[in-house]
Amino acid sequence: MAMDRESKEISRRSFMKRTAIGGAGLVIATDILGPDLLAGIPNGANATMIGVPFEAIERVRLGIIGVGGRGTSLLGDLLAIEKVEVKAICDLVPEKVARAQKAVTNAGQAEPAGFGKDEWDFKNLTQLDLDIVYIATPWNWHVPMALSAMKNGKHAAVEVPACTTLQECWDLVDTSEATRKHCIILENCCYGSTEMMVLSMVRDGLFGEITHGEGAYLHDLRSILTSSEGEGLWRRLPHIKRNGNLYPTHGLGPVAHYMDIHRGDRFDYMVSVSSSEASLSTYVKANFTDGDPKRAEKYICGDMNTSIIKTQRGRTILLQHDVVNPRPYSRLNSISGTKGAFADYPPRVFVDGPKQEEWQSIDGFRDRYEHPLWKTTGELARKMGGHGGMDYIMNYRLMDCLKRGLAPDIDVYDAAAWSAPTPLSEKSVAQNGAPQKFPDFTRGKWNVHSDSPGFALQT
Ligand SMILES: NC(=O)c1ccc[n+]([C@@H]2O[C@H](COP(=O)([O-])OP(=O)(O)OC[C@H]3O[C@@H](n4cnc5c(N)ncnc54)[C@H](O)[C@@H]3O)[C@@H](O)[C@H]2O)c1
Repeated sequence: MAMDRESKEISRRSFMKRTAIGGAGLVIATDILGPDLLAGIPNGANATMIGVPFEAIERVRLGIIGVGGRGTSLLGDLLAIEKVEVKAICDLVPEKVARAQKAVTNAGQAEPAGFGKDEWDFKNLTQLDLDIVYIATPWNWHVPMALSAMKNGKHAAVEVPACTTLQECWDLVDTSEATRKHCIILENCCYGSTEMMVLSMVRDGLFGEITHGEGAYLHDLRSILTSSEGEGLWRRLPHIKRNGNLYPTHGLGPVAHYMDIHRGDRFDYMVSVSSSEASLSTYVKANFTDGDPKRAEKYICGDMNTSIIKTQRGRTILLQHDVVNPRPYSRLNSISGTKGAFADYPPRVFVDGPKQEEWQSIDGFRDRYEHPLWKTTGELARKMGGHGGMDYIMNYRLMDCLKRGLAPDIDVYDAAAWSAPTPLSEKSVAQNGAPQKFPDFTRGKWNVHSDSPGFALQT
């Protein structure tokens, strides 16, 4: 709705006043948002986005920024979901835009608009008539793109990690609250068949009172990091600039759900230490000849970063990051409580009782605890493939929430808190493991919504 100049000014002034109440981080959103975008913000400083439902829509109109490896895979899933229309594609590489447009027309939809004439052309995509914008670009672009989507009235769905500095965390939170648009982190690992089964076990009390969890990203990415295409073009750079946990959300997201983070608990502080760096530099020396510019690079990110997070309710989370040591893949994914424990890789359950010291395979628990989403949609998800089907379940669920007008499972506070270990671990490592406080991105609301149905349990 159009606003006259005076009401625009009043709206802007009242927003400025609210930012003054809310704290330092909020100034950013005020700078970014134009006065038109401040219309319709509910009274009360920084009204929360926890539990705010989407407005139900019959058909989801969607744009994707970034159709490299990840964006292409997300696009494939989205095209297989009913009543989802891919209306726009943006990428800097024209061939990738054309390939994605063809995938859309091959799926029987109209050709989506193409963007990518320069690095900022995504702004034009965010001005189209869309409901949600998917963002699957290198990390440094996530926040400008998500802010542009929300400022232009679209929900943003951002790849992992959503952001890489505390300032960026607050920018996402402030803008989501001010625009009343959701910013969802696309943390597919929360939707794995095992993770969702374990969540059902935790909620059923199988492990009693939860006191400790473990998550990690332990994945040998040496060849990807040093490739001359895809992630090799950008993902090695943080290893030159930062020492800490560069990719925290795959390990942390599922554990945050087991622990009801932002539904009754929150991350309080963390400590972090890094090992020395050896594997990436050794790999580069062994695989690239003297003239290659990579030989001159100096990596400062320790091979293994280990952090411990303490929650407000006194629980602990071990969080690790190692993408350069040769080793089998693991996200640790474990949880323990007063009555038992779960550990992954391979998935196994221990329930307190006479058979001490013996794990049981998770298979015996499948009938009782398989999540309804996997029961109904698992076969197709597995056929679609992406990470064992978790990608399809994530996309299906997000589109379903939009169509049915449910609140998203994962919101901007999760995006911020799960991404914050990157800057916090970096600071802690630089200070010999000194504790670093998590900002309370929920502004005190982490305990208010403990009766909410929460993650993927709304029907
Ligand atoms: N959730 C998962 O399992 C998972 C898996 C892989 C990657 N990711 C994440 O997905 C994101 C993308 O990773 P990827 O593997 O697809 O990388 P990629 O390099 O293959 O693709 C990134 C694409 O973004 C495009 N791009 C870069 N800057 C742009 C700009 N300003 N405007 C438009 N397009 C731009 C590039 O041209 C490229 O095609 C990263 O955040 C990564 O961490 C997540």
